[in-house]
Amino acid sequence: MLFLLKFLLFLIIFLALKVTVILLFFQEEVKAAKEKDPAARSIWEILLLYQGLHALVLYRIAHFFYKKKLYFIARWISQIGRFLTGVEIHPGATIGKGCFIDHGMGVVIGETAIIGDNVLLYQGVTLGGTGLEKGKRHPTIGNNVVIGAGAKVLGNITIGDNSYIGANAVVIRDVPPNSTIVGVPGRITKQDGRKIDVSLDHIHILDPLMQNLEELEKRIADLEKRNK
Ligand SMILES: CC(C)(COP(=O)(O)OP(=O)(O)OC[C@H]1O[C@@H](n2cnc3c(N)ncnc32)[C@H](O)[C@@H]1OP(=O)(O)O)[C@@H](O)C(=O)NCCC(=O)NCCS
Repeated sequence: MLFLLKFLLFLIIFLALKVTVILLFFQEEVKAAKEKDPAARSIWEILLLYQGLHALVLYRIAHFFYKKKLYFIARWISQIGRFLTGVEIHPGATIGKGCFIDHGMGVVIGETAIIGDNVLLYQGVTLGGTGLEKGKRHPTIGNNVVIGAGAKVLGNITIGDNSYIGANAVVIRDVPPNSTIVGVPGRITKQDGRKIDVSLDHIHILDPLMQNLEELEKRIADLEKRNK
């Protein structure tokens, strides 16, 4: 009986501490969750039950140690976060204010990824590298970007502000601001609110084959110029 009481007391203190820390340091994130998740009924639900928010709290602690060059502790906290929430955020990643990870499970954010303010990530999003390269090898995501469930954004590319990456898209090229991208490989279907006809507008197609052809054309034109 005494053990049970002690356990309950410990639980209450732990939850009170957790709620206080989140309310003090993560107001923007709580606000983002309330605004971006129509299913969020109350602040208490967000504070106590949202794994995406808890993943960010643990990431901030891990990032603090990473910046102090205490890499092992940073990775350790990050792995605890992964175990508890199903979200793996490398402590070296840089994440702006008001980020919301909805549902959370399966999100992976690489070491050199940079995420702007007010970004929404759904479950299964990967911000990853494309190979074994070193240095900046993960994407830079602008402000107010939404990345749909299961989307993969790979390599040292930039996703412009206010862009929307569709569910399950695979994006391997830079994306201009205010764009909607869908498919594999990702192609722009909307820009600045204007629908883009991919069969006619080759400038905005992210198809790697198309881009290689364009690069080849450029090189041939350069060679022809030099030989004149
Ligand atoms: C991309 C998305 C934002 C729609 O944007 P939109 O600008 O409203 O796009 P539309 O619905 O007008 O569709 C444009 C075209 O892209 C296609 N499309 C839309 N979403 C797509 C996707 N995820 N993958 C592939 N094609 C997609 C549509 O079929 C349409 O094709 P068409 O022009 O040949 O008919 C949305 O479909 C999406 O993927 N959202 C992600 C939401 C999510 O992950 N939710 C998880 C909740 S748990």
